[in-house]
Amino acid sequence: MAEASENRICRLEEVPDGDARGFSLGESDRHRVGLIVVRIGEDVRVYENRCPHRGTPLDWAPDRFMDENSEYLICSTHAALFRPEDGVCVSGPCEGESLKRKAAKVEEGVVILLPD
Ligand code: FES
Repeated sequence: MAEASENRICRLEEVPDGDARGFSLGESDRHRVGLIVVRIGEDVRVYENRCPHRGTPLDWAPDRFMDENSEYLICSTHAALFRPEDGVCVSGPCEGESLKRKAAKVEEGVVILLPD
């Protein structure tokens, strides 16, 4: 998991199109927040890396967020599937719930976290 600084999460090019990468934001361990950046073309979605079912991180290995068809984000704990574009769980124990989305924008090729 890469380290982000202030509100700059990463460069867009660090996340392959149609895939996702994990980052952490925050100055101390106590305030550190795990984030998932999903790339959809030149746009991104940013979610907290926290499953709505039990609160565990989704990735089963560093930066492994997608299911085998690269169609959905998958939780490594109980295999819930989430739509990349809106974070809604479409299958699994938290079906109908959502990943917590964070406001973000891409500016000059940099993914920036915006205030909630
Ligand atoms: S903790 Fe994610 S599906 Fe159970």
